Amino acid sequence: MPTDTLRLFFALPCPRDTAEAICTWRDGLGLGGKPVAAENLHLTLAFLGQQPSARLEELQLLAAAIEAPPFELRLDRLGGGRQGLLWLEPSRMPDELPALAGELQQRLLASGIALDTRPLRAHLTLVRHAGARPREAHPDFAWPVERFVLYASENTPRGVRYLGLGNWPLVPGLRLPRFRPPH
Ligand code: 2AM
Repeated sequence: MPTDTLRLFFALPCPRDTAEAICTWRDGLGLGGKPVAAENLHLTLAFLGQQPSARLEELQLLAAAIEAPPFELRLDRLGGGRQGLLWLEPSRMPDELPALAGELQQRLLASGIALDTRPLRAHLTLVRHAGARPREAHPDFAWPVERFVLYASENTPRGVRYLGLGNWPLVPGLRLPRFRPPH
């Protein structure tokens, strides 16, 4: 039966080899809870929530119009939130990441898509409902970000599944505009 809405988000997918290395490291920490599957590891750029399927093509065109430079994403800090959520995050935010997320969010808002107005907290969720938060953890993972993806999140009997609905390359050689302080 075709669904008339989709739960959508734009994200940076974690490459397979890095995802496996992250999962091996995480599983060695003995955190309990519900670990995120290697194939589901990602960093969200914009969460759209439930959207009419009829808007999909418009969203794909919106994404295709984005020109942003590639960058290296280094995740070297363990963070945690409520309900035993544990994630990886950058200790130093690469300028290109908020620039890409900001551009996407601006275009989505201009298309009338209501987004969470809280500032982006770039993170890659590792575990939900973890029983413990390690005192000592020194993660250091990195990958070259060369594309971004639109995903639909689906609940299946075997857990959540993310279905890629399009991916768009970042543009090598592009530079971010330099920040000029006000006079
Ligand atoms: P989480 O991993 O911290 O739960 C798919 O659900 C992705 O969208 C996940 O990265 C999830 O973050 C994020 N997400 C879910 N609900 C969200 C919301 N209300 N605002 C922002 N991001 C959300």
